[in-house]
Amino acid sequence: MHYPHSVRYDMLLPRRISSLSLVVIAIFTLWYLDYLPEFSSSVRRPIVKPGVKTKPATPALTPPSNASSTIISDSRPSPNSEPKLDKSTKSRFSNGQQVFGSRKFIQKHPVKDFAKFNHGLPLQLPKVQHDFKQENQEDKVRRLNRLEAVRASFEHAWQGYKKNAWMKDELSPLDGKSAQSFGGWAATLVDTLDTLWIMGMKDEFEEAVNAASEIDFNTTNEETINVFETTIRYLGGFLGAYDLTDGKYPVLLQKAVEVGELLYCAFDTPNRMPATRFRWKEALEGGDQSASEGTFVAEIGSLSLEFTRLSQLTGDMKYFDAVQRIMDIFDENQNKTKLPGLWPITMNARRMSFVDTSFSLGAMADSLFEYLPKQHMLLGGRSDQIQRMYEYAIAAAMNHVFFQPMVPNGKDILISGKAIVDESTKDVATEANGQHLGCYTGGMVGLGAKLFDHDEHLNMARKLVDGCIWAYESMPSGIMPEVFHMLACDMNSDCNWDEKAWKKAVLDHAKRTRKEDAEPKFTTDEALLNYTIAQKHLKPGFVDIWDPRYLLRPEAIESVFIHYRLTGETDLMDSAWKMFENIEKHTRTDFGHAMIDDVTVAKPEKQNKMESFWLAETLKYFYLIFSEPDVVSLDKYVL
Ligand SMILES: *[C@@H]1O[C@H](CO)[C@@H](O)[C@H](O)[C@H]1NC(C)=O
Ligand SMILES: *[C@@H]1O[C@H](CO)[C@@H](O)[C@H](O)[C@H]1NC(C)=O
Ligand SMILES: *[C@@H]1O[C@H](CO)[C@@H](O)[C@H](O)[C@H]1NC(C)=O
Ligand SMILES: *[C@@H]1O[C@H](CO)[C@@H](O)[C@H](O)[C@H]1NC(C)=O
Repeated sequence: MHYPHSVRYDMLLPRRISSLSLVVIAIFTLWYLDYLPEFSSSVRRPIVKPGVKTKPATPALTPPSNASSTIISDSRPSPNSEPKLDKSTKSRFSNGQQVFGSRKFIQKHPVKDFAKFNHGLPLQLPKVQHDFKQENQEDKVRRLNRLEAVRASFEHAWQGYKKNAWMKDELSPLDGKSAQSFGGWAATLVDTLDTLWIMGMKDEFEEAVNAASEIDFNTTNEETINVFETTIRYLGGFLGAYDLTDGKYPVLLQKAVEVGELLYCAFDTPNRMPATRFRWKEALEGGDQSASEGTFVAEIGSLSLEFTRLSQLTGDMKYFDAVQRIMDIFDENQNKTKLPGLWPITMNARRMSFVDTSFSLGAMADSLFEYLPKQHMLLGGRSDQIQRMYEYAIAAAMNHVFFQPMVPNGKDILISGKAIVDESTKDVATEANGQHLGCYTGGMVGLGAKLFDHDEHLNMARKLVDGCIWAYESMPSGIMPEVFHMLACDMNSDCNWDEKAWKKAVLDHAKRTRKEDAEPKFTTDEALLNYTIAQKHLKPGFVDIWDPRYLLRPEAIESVFIHYRLTGETDLMDSAWKMFENIEKHTRTDFGHAMIDDVTVAKPEKQNKMESFWLAETLKYFYLIFSEPDVVSLDKYVL
């Protein structure tokens, strides 16, 4: 990958390695950028909670059943609704000034005219959920038993967090200690609010809301604030819970505004693109800020749901304005990238250029794409911009990113891979790698199919979902690895299983990637092949497993859940249950649940980390697929 020399590597690095010495950082970063997929774990794909988070659990502005009502029913706050902030709060935040604690922040590059919501024709958003029929008694009993098992799992980890890591960002699930990873503002607590509500744990929810109301977003021990992570975990967490509870806990919106005010300062740059690693102290002291010359598109391109929702709820358009400017830049540049239709994994946000040659819908780009159909819903379908961008992107992804892997029994599945453009020839090569992070695509394409009336895409969505189910079921642990390689079939071939071709691919790949001096030498290809297959526990179809961990991620169950709600295909519930049983079995600890080091073995080792998305997303989707379909209906909420 080619990368401008001027990139500020420090701005780009995941926080957790930022304390390494500069030299190590530079080397590591180059390696990192060259082999993004191997390291995808360092940047989590943002997604939200049903409430909002990655998916702001935001009420989609569904078409009013009431032709005379203007835009939205009262229970769903509309873009027109009055700000709920009291006057004194409002006046503190006007005209390019903001207040943090006792300090005043004066914008150096204030915006004069804020972007507005398009109040044009209230387009009807199509109904997306399947028309579910009454289930029979036997199915119901089975479903409710599964639901109960998911709830028990959630309660176990929540109690562990409560007893051992209350008000900390994360529970450390092996030793019962805690970790601060996202500003120290109780990330797990805030992120999980919506799940508590959805699972009917009202007392726990209220206790958590009370605790959250005490969080001080006026300060942090961190030098820099990760704008994206803070947006999806905190801002999304508050907004989702606020919407799910129909505004009955006003403090949730108040806290959302506090986070929003903090984050909005990061947009005070000459071109109004946010400084994604926000040096908040310097900024408050009047330092100049500028957008990064090297940033992941997901970090800058997936703030839209949370910021838009914040404007809808407060009536203060500056948040929407901030993200609409970003969308306009992505829109303008969509046909100017090296692979028109898609935005590359990295961009220069200071010059607003997109010259990178690597394209993926996975790590570091993911939620940029994911947010498009959801933003369309959140805006009530009133702008054709987002639909246009989505359709253009999906057409390019179908041609260059999604691939059919060669697997035994010729199973017809799709995986979301990666495209690399050769700068001199302009040829586009599809790399057949897969990532757990890429599994959200099944849900996204399904949602897009229903929203934008592309029936033919629903089938493609199911194949993407099936690719992830297949990867789960192929592993000895029953859980999909974080990053792996496969062999892509030619789009026009029948993709029959060919063991020789698979072995050749394994061997070629091993020769290309192994570190000669660090690994045993072999005199024959066959010996190297046997060694590689045995050492990496490669099951037929897998050419390499780059990262065999499972990090408690949600993307696969998320898509299984969404596709189930879209189509009512009941086999998806059985697949979800198998996933759940295996994950629960391999990750449960005395205190909560732990990520695991190697899904390719029957008994993986646990590692001392439980990110907030385990409670906030993964278990939420497992719960929702076994709930009644009207619990957090996809026709009412964006999640
Ligand atoms: C239609 O709008 C009126 C006035 O806003 C409201 O009272 C009524 O409940 C709405 N009807 C439905 C079916 O939403
Ligand atoms: C943070 O600052 C705001 C604005 O001055 C203030 O209202 C709020 O009480 C502060 N929060 C805490 C927890 O100190
Ligand atoms: C690229 O898209 C813009 C609209 O976003 C359009 O105005 C322009 O003509 C397009 N350019 C090309 C080369 O297709
Ligand atoms: C490689 O594995 C195959 C099948 O398990 C076996 O028949 C063959 O003898 C092995 N070859 C070497 C060189 O170990």
